[in-house]
Amino acid sequence: MGSGRSARPWISLNMAMTADGKTATATRSISSFGSPHDRRHLYELRAQADAVMTGAGTVRSENADLAAGANHFRALRRRNGLSPENLRVVVSRGAKLSPALRVFSEPGGALIILTTRQAHPRAVAAAERRGAAVARFGARDVDLPAAIRWLADAWKVRRLHCEGGAELNQALFAADLVDEIHVTWCPWIFGGRTSPTLAEGVGFGSLAEARRFRLSSVRQRGKELFLRFVRESRALARSAKGGVTRRSARR
Ligand SMILES: NC(=O)c1ccc[n+]([C@@H]2O[C@H](COP(=O)([O-])OP(=O)(O)OC[C@H]3O[C@@H](n4cnc5c(N)ncnc54)[C@H](OP(=O)(O)O)[C@@H]3O)[C@@H](O)[C@H]2O)c1
Repeated sequence: MGSGRSARPWISLNMAMTADGKTATATRSISSFGSPHDRRHLYELRAQADAVMTGAGTVRSENADLAAGANHFRALRRRNGLSPENLRVVVSRGAKLSPALRVFSEPGGALIILTTRQAHPRAVAAAERRGAAVARFGARDVDLPAAIRWLADAWKVRRLHCEGGAELNQALFAADLVDEIHVTWCPWIFGGRTSPTLAEGVGFGSLAEARRFRLSSVRQRGKELFLRFVRESRALARSAKGGVTRRSARR
């Protein structure tokens, strides 16, 4: 990284998963199957990040607002040395997002749409009229390394937290950008060849290409297991040691 540029943000990912490894039903309609413990965990993880990011598919199917949540989570963010609201980042090739989506109407941090040169100027203008900052990276897919560098430089993002879905997750894994994974393992079986999992897309063809993580903690709360994995890599393994605690949320 050249002088004057910010370091790449630490990138974490959080998903709830059934006992058979699915993250939604075959219709992709039900993905909020976690308990209230899982819900709290989701907001506690958001409270460690400057920005929360999802793919457009997740925003469309879950209509999530990607915001910091109730006052006590906003207070937790302050204790973590962060602003009360996280930035909200949506990744989309076409930037075609319905005006009815809650990311446009619910209070929260600035909304940033990372898109491509494919995005129609009308879609970009419509999102901008609704208050979003739109930035184009790449021709076919969003060039995630470039987009994330821009988030670090222009928006001072040091910790970026991704909440899926499967397509965006796989693009992050393919670019080798994920430092930490949180999985809530839930006592459900959804089955189904087409039910989404944590990462989809083309995938890796061999063990040599596959991304490797190390299990760093397992915690049971109620009927669910909360797992944390950190990447196995020379450069970042050191930063991963000891994990991220609420008190040391920033590196
Ligand atoms: N259990 C959980 O914790 C959890 C969490 C999140 C989501 N889910 C579930 O997962 C399913 C959604 O999965 P999904 O794979 O459709 O989700 P996704 O990755 O959120 O959305 C796919 C869309 O995001 C955009 N996108 C993703 N990667 C991109 C890239 N590299 N470049 C440009 N655009 C990119 C594209 O948007 P455009 O179409 O706008 O171009 C693409 O069509 C839903 O059923 C959801 O409920 C479950």
